[in-house]
Amino acid sequence: MLKQWLSLLLLTFITSALLAAPPVQSPANYAPGDPQVCLGCHGATGMKPAAGILNTPHGKKGHPDSPMNKHGCQSCHGPSAQHLSQYVNGKPAKPTVTFNGDTTPVDAQNQSCLGCHENNARSHWDGSQHQFAGVSCTNCHQVHKSPDPVLFKETQKEVCFNCHQDKRAQMHKTSAHPLVDNLMTCTSCHNPHGSATESLLVKGSVNETCFQCHAEKRGPFLWEHPPVQENCSNCHQPHGSVHTPMLTSRGPWLCQQCHMAGFHPSTAYSGSGVPPNGAAQQMLSKDCLNCHVQVHGSNHPSGVRLTR
Ligand code: HEC
Ligand code: HEC
Ligand code: HEC
Ligand code: HEC
Ligand code: HEC
Ligand code: HEC
Ligand code: HEC
Ligand code: HEC
Ligand code: HEC
Ligand code: HEC
Repeated sequence: MLKQWLSLLLLTFITSALLAAPPVQSPANYAPGDPQVCLGCHGATGMKPAAGILNTPHGKKGHPDSPMNKHGCQSCHGPSAQHLSQYVNGKPAKPTVTFNGDTTPVDAQNQSCLGCHENNARSHWDGSQHQFAGVSCTNCHQVHKSPDPVLFKETQKEVCFNCHQDKRAQMHKTSAHPLVDNLMTCTSCHNPHGSATESLLVKGSVNETCFQCHAEKRGPFLWEHPPVQENCSNCHQPHGSVHTPMLTSRGPWLCQQCHMAGFHPSTAYSGSGVPPNGAAQQMLSKDCLNCHVQVHGSNHPSGVRLTR
């Protein structure tokens, strides 16, 4: 009993000590004279230089919603009068919003940007995989620099690879989309700010995403192949594969994942089905596709078995 009382007392003490601490972050006052006053200390050189932002879209006054037409630097860093007037341990009190350290929670950092950008491509940010995983806008964007690498095809994927290393390896496999050549990039298929689909796809489904460029696979077909209508990734690995063309596995095993019976031998074809042990047409050359050439669907009146 005494122990419990003591710990309660200790808890009360700690809480009141916390409450009594100076409210460094809270005073919501804008420092006047921004941005000039800020640049006085954070100019082009010297301590934590910040003038670079003046050469980016955020530093220009052209757009009515530009930070420079709002509260200057404090449009992003929050009302920060305390940073100029208060000192903590001999250093200026932090601005209300900082992006580099541990002082501002990630959601609050992101809100600072979303105040101006929660539109268009960003309208699904809340609830997206990136938001949910605590990724911040500034994990991908560098706003004090121009150009911002993530906005360009040549440099974007390197930003993604910081966290999605496996995709770099896949991109280099024998059969892959031309990402290495910068003809495509991650945002050809993904919206990193969130989307209405799983896997942050730019369109409403995997297939709709692929049809942007492979429209001929959409059909309609007289004889459809159900797994194609369902999801291209039943058979394809969009990030790259060792099985040309980007197949999830090699034929005939690809087909045999779903087709084990039928009028053909219903056993799984294996390596013994090649010479000298007897050649099965289902193993050689294009295996099942020797005969079933129209694997995405057929428009031939007698193409019911996808053979023409
Ligand atoms: C009198 C000089 C001075 C002025 C004026 C000044 N700062 Fe600072 N600022 C500093 C110092 C010193 C630091 C480094 C503090 C530290 O190391 O904790 C700093 C740090 C910062 C940081 C980095 C904080 C962090 O932890 O990442 C930001 C952001 C910042 N200032 C923004 C501003 C803004 C916005 C203004 C204008 C409203 C401004 N500063 C005006 C001196 C100044
Ligand atoms: C569009 C939002 C935005 C505006 C406007 C803005 N900043 Fe920043 N600032 C950031 C972000 C984000 C970072 C974190 C670094 C990065 O991602 O580029 C940052 C970082 C900083 C830092 C820390 C740099 C370091 O080396 O640790 C300072 C200092 C700073 N800003 C000062 C300023 C000053 C001064 C201005 C006005 C001239 C300003 N900022 C305007 C968003 C902004
Ligand atoms: C006060 C409003 C405001 C705030 C706050 C703001 N932005 Fe912007 N941002 C703009 C405007 C205006 C543009 C220019 C739009 C244009 O030119 O069409 C812009 C442009 C951009 C661009 C495109 C830059 C380019 O090179 O084309 C990116 C990326 C961006 N903002 C990210 C951010 C991030 C990240 C934050 C938070 C750290 C942020 N913004 C905070 C208003 C804001
Ligand atoms: C996972 C990386 C990532 C994160 C996190 C991210 N972005 Fe982006 N952002 C991008 C990429 C990539 C583009 C370029 C889109 C394209 O090319 O289609 C972009 C484009 C933009 C643009 C438009 C630039 C233009 O020229 O149209 C704005 C504005 C923007 N982002 C703001 C934000 C804001 C605000 C956040 C945080 C809520 C954020 N971004 C979080 C990767 C990211
Ligand atoms: C040709 C379109 C396309 C391109 C380009 C693409 N992706 Fe994907 N990505 C997809 C599809 C489709 C899925 C969903 C796969 C599924 O549902 O089976 C996916 C899933 C993912 C996933 C989640 C599942 C997994 O495999 O880990 C991540 C992470 C991912 N992509 C990252 C990236 C990155 C990073 C890049 C750029 C290097 C990229 N993607 C380029 C189409 C693409
Ligand atoms: C700061 C680290 C980080 C960066 C940078 C980053 N991501 Fe992510 N990404 C994550 C995390 C964490 C998740 C959620 C956990 C997971 O599914 O891996 C995620 C999830 C995803 C998913 C959905 C995965 C699924 O399972 O549905 C896709 C797609 C994706 N990221 C694409 C991208 C693209 C494209 C870029 C570059 C523009 C990028 N990411 C940059 C950390 C990052
Ligand atoms: C932005 C356009 C674009 C999107 C979206 C796209 N692709 Fe592609 N795809 C290409 C290009 C370009 C090639 C390379 C063609 C070449 O090398 O001749 C290609 C090649 C392929 C190939 C290999 C063709 C071959 O002959 O080796 C397959 C399979 C493929 N894509 C499947 C998909 C799937 C599945 C999706 C959806 C997840 C998809 N693609 C989304 C543009 C796209
Ligand atoms: C049942 C498995 C399967 C599904 C599902 C599937 N494909 Fe294919 N795909 C293949 C096979 C097998 C090949 C190789 C054809 C060949 O070698 O003649 C191929 C080849 C391709 C090619 C390159 C050659 C060509 O025909 O242009 C593209 C592009 C392609 N598929 C896109 C798609 C798209 C887009 C989808 C979704 C609408 C899809 N595939 C769904 C099995 C499939
Ligand atoms: C993800 C499962 C799946 C994969 C993988 C798959 N199929 Fe199919 N396939 C089906 C389904 C489901 C049907 C429709 C069966 C039905 O209507 O009874 C079908 C129908 C067919 C038909 C027409 C048969 C009929 O009864 O009308 C042929 C031929 C065929 N597939 C060949 C292939 C070939 C060749 C491959 C490999 C390139 C393949 N399939 C890969 C699921 C798959
Ligand atoms: C030598 C040519 C040839 C090869 C190789 C071949 N098939 Fe067939 N397959 C046919 C023909 C012809 C039919 C149609 C028979 C009919 O209509 O009675 C057929 C029918 C089918 C059917 C429908 C059977 C049913 O019971 O309704 C499926 C499923 C199928 N094939 C899958 C495959 C798969 C999977 C492979 C590879 C492992 C394969 N085929 C290899 C010629 C071939």
